Amino acid sequence: MVDVERTLDEAGLTNPHVREYVAHWANITGAERVEVVSAADDARLIQEALDAGELLPAGEGRYYSRSYYKDTARAEERTIVATSNEADKGVYNNWKPAAEMKPKLVELMTGASVGKTMYVIPYLMSPKGSPVEKFAAGVELTDNRNVVLQMIRMSRVGVEYINDLGNDFVRAVHVTGDLENLGQGTPDDKRYFVTVADERTILHFGSSYGGNALLGKIAHGLRQGAYDGWKNGFLVEQFMLLGITDKQTGKKYNICGGFPSASGKTNLAMTLAPDALGDRYYVEFYGDDIAWIWVGDDGKLYGMNPENGVFGVAKDTNEKTNPTAIDSIVPGTGAIFTNVAYNTVTQEVWWEGRGEKPTDLNGWEDWKGEVIADRAPENADDPWAHPNSRFTTTLANVPNVAKDFEAPEGVEIHGIIFGGRTRDREPLIRAIKDVAEGVYDGLTLGAEATAAADGLEGVLRYDPMSMRPFMSYSEADYAAHWLEVIGRATTKPIFAHVNWFQRGEDGRFLWPGYRENLRPLNWLMQFLNGEVEGVQTAVGVLPKREELNLEGLDEQTLADLDTILSIDVPRWQQEMGFREKHLAQFEGLPEEIWEAHRRVAKALDEA
Ligand code: GTP
Ligand code: MN
Ligand code: MN
Repeated sequence: MVDVERTLDEAGLTNPHVREYVAHWANITGAERVEVVSAADDARLIQEALDAGELLPAGEGRYYSRSYYKDTARAEERTIVATSNEADKGVYNNWKPAAEMKPKLVELMTGASVGKTMYVIPYLMSPKGSPVEKFAAGVELTDNRNVVLQMIRMSRVGVEYINDLGNDFVRAVHVTGDLENLGQGTPDDKRYFVTVADERTILHFGSSYGGNALLGKIAHGLRQGAYDGWKNGFLVEQFMLLGITDKQTGKKYNICGGFPSASGKTNLAMTLAPDALGDRYYVEFYGDDIAWIWVGDDGKLYGMNPENGVFGVAKDTNEKTNPTAIDSIVPGTGAIFTNVAYNTVTQEVWWEGRGEKPTDLNGWEDWKGEVIADRAPENADDPWAHPNSRFTTTLANVPNVAKDFEAPEGVEIHGIIFGGRTRDREPLIRAIKDVAEGVYDGLTLGAEATAAADGLEGVLRYDPMSMRPFMSYSEADYAAHWLEVIGRATTKPIFAHVNWFQRGEDGRFLWPGYRENLRPLNWLMQFLNGEVEGVQTAVGVLPKREELNLEGLDEQTLADLDTILSIDVPRWQQEMGFREKHLAQFEGLPEEIWEAHRRVAKALDEA
């Protein structure tokens, strides 16, 4: 074991609390050496990873990596929020006593990094100087170099972010473990992803992939952040954040919102098509996955994206669906692709929905590293890329990133939208002015149960505010916290529910989606501004057909429009029964939420 003190001195890491923490875990994990990293080390670390074969070149200044084939997604059943207070137990947070979990993790991590380097990653999940900065700093310890490279892209990394913060930093320990012997998905699963929320300590063991390993993003940026936000008066949500400027009036509207994972946040935030609507609007990107939201001294609601990069789903990303994403991962961007298909000869990458499947199979390997040309006939149709394969790129690479994306004061939030995947019932957009009804709508957000996930047709897998996998305290307290924070704002945001996924009898999507989603959002801004009045229904205000900008939409969409601009009352009444059961799980849910539920139910009965 090297001299940790000397290494920390050389790196200029002076914060005594951080130093003590690093030495403590270096001792437990048994790492052979300690290295403090900053964003400035990126080029050197990339070269080391290439030399070690951990990364492969994917054209000029782009890189390719594979994760272990049983380690390709978050593992919700192995993810736990632990505290010392049983009142923190919720329906979704897998709560366990901290006293039970901490020794387990220490045991798993003991000696588990022998022979490896322990990288020290001081990071900030916020632009420097933001009002929530105190809650945004952390120090991740990891024994995996690829995790360092991902963290450098996804957060702000360097000792300067933590030296002056005293003990106000999240302790985030990541140990990869022996991936080939962890029993992933079996009854003998050895992985544990634990956030000890009331001690601001994250202990993740047994993965090197995504949110399991980049601890700034989900474990801190969402789970720990949400817990801290609850205790300190702000909101932390799995939300995208974008700005739309109406060039005619000069007004700018910032909209944030939650869609369950894989339901279109990244696509919506990055890729609206301002040119499609007569060049009247200018759309700016702030964030695609996380927003921290607070009430400013002026009583307005403010929000910011704590991340420094995008970890986007690769599948179906192409020039048509998301040209902005494609532009942000071109050669020279430093982008990293994980678990897509790779060509060992040309260094190209490919995934399902990228475009034409290459016909010349020479050099192509699938995400597991198997040679496509050698596939057995029965495997011929297997996807080349893993469905959850991702690209990682920094915000600065996104062509329409907002000029003020690093402004410490954040941006005013005018609208909060929720969107699920719903094949029927849920219209294109419905606006909700009442705060309790807006929060109620968020709590009853969901995505369609897939056939695999014990789903009944038409029954949602509820995902409150899209936070189900990231909940860190009880849902009843979460609802009360939302009402408290938005209640404190003197300028209220408008709420809305959107759905890009309604289908026809033949299974086709009734709305073209993607870049066209700017149209309903424009309507929402006009509604907020009193330019359109819409139609009041039991579940909110819907656009009148003529209020939507329909220019350039195809015949089929125009024919389908009346369906997605109407309310199927019997289906909604059935849904209200499901919602009642869903909400009844949350013991102590604020009465205001139940009142909102009963108001909507009554309005439906009278419709
Ligand atoms: P996470 O990053 O996992 O939190 O997910 P996300 O919400 O960012 O989802 P993402 O934007 O990556 O979209 C996931 C899937 O939804 C992709 O397969 C997209 O092609 C599809 N999708 C996104 N927007 C639309 C849309 O407007 N219409 C349709 N039909 N599909 C869409
Ligand atoms: Mn995303
Ligand atoms: Mn996400």
